[in-house]
Amino acid sequence: MVDVILGLQWGDEGKGKIVDYFAPNYDVIARFQGGANAGHTLYVNGQKVVLHQIPSGIFHEDKINLIGNGVVLDAVTLKKECEKVASMGIDYKKNLYISERAHLILPTHRALDKASELAKGNEKIGSTLKGIGPAYMDKTGRNGLRVGDLLDKGFISQYIKIRLKHQRLLDSYNFQEDISAWEDEFFESIELLRDFKIVNGEYFINDKIQQGKKVLAEGAQGSMLDVDFGTFPFVTSSSTISAGVCTGLGIAPQKIKDVFGVSKAYCTRVGSGPFPTELNDETGELIRKIGSEFGATTGRPRRCGWIDLVALNFACMINGVTKIIMTKTDILDTLPELNVCTSYKINGEEKNYVPFQMTQVKIDPVFKSFAGWQTDITAMSEYDSLPQNMKNYIDYINKFLKVPVKFISNGPGRDQIILA
Ligand code: GDP
Ligand code: IMO
Ligand code: MG
Repeated sequence: MVDVILGLQWGDEGKGKIVDYFAPNYDVIARFQGGANAGHTLYVNGQKVVLHQIPSGIFHEDKINLIGNGVVLDAVTLKKECEKVASMGIDYKKNLYISERAHLILPTHRALDKASELAKGNEKIGSTLKGIGPAYMDKTGRNGLRVGDLLDKGFISQYIKIRLKHQRLLDSYNFQEDISAWEDEFFESIELLRDFKIVNGEYFINDKIQQGKKVLAEGAQGSMLDVDFGTFPFVTSSSTISAGVCTGLGIAPQKIKDVFGVSKAYCTRVGSGPFPTELNDETGELIRKIGSEFGATTGRPRRCGWIDLVALNFACMINGVTKIIMTKTDILDTLPELNVCTSYKINGEEKNYVPFQMTQVKIDPVFKSFAGWQTDITAMSEYDSLPQNMKNYIDYINKFLKVPVKFISNGPGRDQIILA
């Protein structure tokens, strides 16, 4: 049996905290897509940790953590992360497994990401510059190197071949930066990778499922950044939705039971691209300040806005969300009035769907407003004790989406979560 936790917005919904909270109920925690563009924040014994490559179950020592075939792996980031986790007393070598089919992010992928973004100028995606797009391009273009290739004697000659190909592309961008330091780090880091438990991920995970073990698939990014269904071209390069669990781990769709969709009580986006409910005013700034809305991977300020039920409805549909987990509700504690977007006015006409492209049309959000609860909820642990205004807000969202909000997160701490 497999459950999924994934983001319903533009990433940073608080997936890391939620996976860490749910991990005790599962045997295997598996990442199925994305790479070091992810930044999943956890608080372990009060200490903040940001994970980019390692699944967020790593702090539960008896759990298996798998980096699945759908992930693109940055060996340099993984090495740094392993050192961090080890310094906190975790024996990562014991419980961390890597699929031999996961593609490697090469130093030239990072360079190509940077060169491509520079060439785009004002139209840049706002990529995290971790080499994600170029690595997935090499995967679908049938060029990339995979983790399993590291164990092959011919790895270096394969590397040189692809490096030459990338160099021609970099030359076409007139990219002049010296990347030899990145290459040194890369070769140092892949030595560590060779020592890992490199497995055939699809047999590994299906064997576990067969044995009755419970798997939790951990999504990265969010549904609105999905390469097919997100706000293209301002998206990431992987399938961030529940369908990605099947291709990213090698499991059949009927094995998936619950799809937990994580959404903030408001909305954020980092990087460029459409964001209909964005607040370019003091309220947006206030939310950014109270919510510490700065990227966990790049430190960039996150754009903030009201919750968007049109986009959430769409995300629930494409993912088959069974339960919603609402995070960062406490960030709205002091606001006198809250808005929720219930439809879009597209070129003056009211619509309740997400259009296929959102950059060349004018989208004006239609809002319904709610009185804020203006109560500190961070120490509350029972649904019944929550302020009525907050219940009204959540009830409305439940009814609108026809998917229940089952968990309410009211702080970054492991235990700050309320069952609805
Ligand atoms: P992820 O990428 O989805 O794992 O989310 P990030 O870690 O990038 O960003 C979420 C941020 O919000 C992190 O700093 C978390 O510690 C924090 N966080 C998560 N849930 C809550 C919550 O309910 N309340 C507050 N105040 N912070 C939260
Ligand atoms: P987590 O897992 C928020 C955004 C980038 C950029 C776009 C493409 O922490 O939620 P990429 O580096 O993938 O080529 O960037 O996607 N992005 C994220 N935004 N959270 C993330 O991950 C993100 N990963 C990528 O800012 O706009
Ligand atoms: Mg994040």
